Amino acid sequence: MPKPSDILDRVLVLEMVRVTEAAAMAAAKLIGRGDEKAADAAAVEAMRRAFDTLQMDGTVVIGEGERDEAPMLFIGEKVGGAPGTGPKIDIALDPLEGTTITAKAGPNALAVLAAAEEGCLLNAPDVYMDKLAVGPGYPDGVIDLDKSVRENVEAVAKAKGVAPDEIIVCVLDRPRHETLIAELRAIGCGIQLIPDGDVAGVIATTDEDTTIDMYMGSGGAPEGVLAAAALRCVGGQFKGRLLFRNDDERGRAAKWGITDLNKQYDLKELAKGDCIFAATGVTDGSLLEGVKSLRRGVITTESVVMRASSGTVRWVKSEHQKD
Ligand code: FBP
Repeated sequence: MPKPSDILDRVLVLEMVRVTEAAAMAAAKLIGRGDEKAADAAAVEAMRRAFDTLQMDGTVVIGEGERDEAPMLFIGEKVGGAPGTGPKIDIALDPLEGTTITAKAGPNALAVLAAAEEGCLLNAPDVYMDKLAVGPGYPDGVIDLDKSVRENVEAVAKAKGVAPDEIIVCVLDRPRHETLIAELRAIGCGIQLIPDGDVAGVIATTDEDTTIDMYMGSGGAPEGVLAAAALRCVGGQFKGRLLFRNDDERGRAAKWGITDLNKQYDLKELAKGDCIFAATGVTDGSLLEGVKSLRRGVITTESVVMRASSGTVRWVKSEHQKD
């Protein structure tokens, strides 16, 4: 376990939940309304405002995009109510992870953030990342992106004490995963195809109730860092490799100081030292219940906040007065 960070101690860990709750409640007003952009904008604005109530000197290192692409919560933006005086915290955030899910009222949309001491979260460019994850309880190194799909499944199956065709793998349902899916089918694995939301997909490997053993496939690199921060807190293994489709994307990596474009990142390189992960459900999902508006004028939220140094996982159910 990493050493507790005094700097993170000074930021109330639980306060992070207020921030994800605010984003989730704002996005929830647009569940099933078919407008991804409006849902995202509502979450971003609410999260931005909620950060101001935290006594910290925060910097967004993973956010809504680069300064010229995003009006709020852009990379490099200062957040928090104590700029220059409060503890210096780096923040990775996704106010609405699952914009399409929210627009279509599907499962597993979340408001998420991770916080760590300055310099501890990988400044991942907004490119794809090849991801491979398992939950806790496996020997170190059981998964490896340099090994084939079959080798990884067989290694996990052996460590779990089951046959490879008993392994269940979560994969984003995308045409680019056609070969991966065919390889898994050839082994006989169960495949849970998800339409979106791979942060929840990766975290699902840590919860035996989901029956998901592994996460495989490519998705957003920022979401990879967020998922890695969660796994740092609850255990599990995660491997990530940035995928570049063109020179523009390679240029983005260079801008963030990434020189080895083929590097396989481990959990501790994506989220170093002590870190906090917080999420609130927007729609119902495997990790959290979504926001509910009750008849008696109350809105309910369910959130989770975890910390790497203590391994504490807090589930927070809140009732908010609509007024
Ligand atoms: P958004 O909330 O930004 O829409 O992201 C949803 C998501 O499914 C992520 O969970 C995932 O990492 C990424 O999109 C995958 O990207 P793509 O849709 O291009 O395959």
